[in-house]
Amino acid sequence: MLTTVLTLVALLLCIVLLIRWRVRTNADWALWWHDNYLERIRDFLSGTTRPVRILKYVQRCANSGDVLSVISAIDAYCSKVEWAMNVGDEKGAILDAVVLETRPRYVLELGTYCGYSTLRIAHLLAPGARLITLEMNPHYAQVAIEMFRHAGLDAQVELLVGSSSALIPQLRKKLDIEKFDLVFIDHWKVSYLPDTKLLEECGLLKAGSVLLADNVTCPGAPDYLQYVRNSPRYQSQYFPARLEYLQVEDGVEKSVFLG
Ligand SMILES: C[S@@+](CC[C@H](N)C(=O)[O-])C[C@H]1O[C@@H](n2cnc3c(N)ncnc32)[C@H](O)[C@@H]1O
Repeated sequence: MLTTVLTLVALLLCIVLLIRWRVRTNADWALWWHDNYLERIRDFLSGTTRPVRILKYVQRCANSGDVLSVISAIDAYCSKVEWAMNVGDEKGAILDAVVLETRPRYVLELGTYCGYSTLRIAHLLAPGARLITLEMNPHYAQVAIEMFRHAGLDAQVELLVGSSSALIPQLRKKLDIEKFDLVFIDHWKVSYLPDTKLLEECGLLKAGSVLLADNVTCPGAPDYLQYVRNSPRYQSQYFPARLEYLQVEDGVEKSVFLG
């Protein structure tokens, strides 16, 4: 009897260790575990959502009006407590470098979520630059607005709620913006390519506009990569990195529109 119990315990332990290892190293397992399984359990047990839990942590732990403290608090929460789909610190450093070298006057972000990448971009912009971010989920947008307020950057960010495919054609009229210098593409991966083509069709890109696309390896955006890497209208470069807060391989693609 004791031998059977010990064998079962050992088997269970092996299964747990195997799942742990797969979740740490395999993209599909990691996303399924963190983005579906754990998030739903936490939502059910806490009666809140992940964005609200991140916001509450930030409001408790980050200094109000201090954007760097807000960014650090989000990273701390998402690496130690609960994974979330922010661009994260490692790929965030690549985003920072691209913002600094591009020195954009007009920036468009596709996919705001809790506002983490928006804050990374916003605090590096020169005075007078404009940052427009699009988010289709009204709950996420509300959390992002609170996050911007806590960071003291709510006046610097223009958040539009709605689907990118509906909003992009309205941007020029709505915002009185001719072209974007930098576009950070970080919404659902199936939309990367159609929205890039939409930006072209709407004349929102100019020679020298930079597109920076997150998660091109994990979960991946193969049709987008195929397009920017093979089109004579783009000069494209891949930056390898790891998926936010995990050891899984990911990367960002920087593509300069040539006109
Ligand atoms: C990966 S998260 C964005 C993370 C954020 N850029 C960051 O790094 O902090 C993707 C977000 O895009 C939003 N989204 C997805 N498809 C969209 C679309 N077509 N239009 C607008 N928002 C979209 C989702 O609701 C989600 O909040």
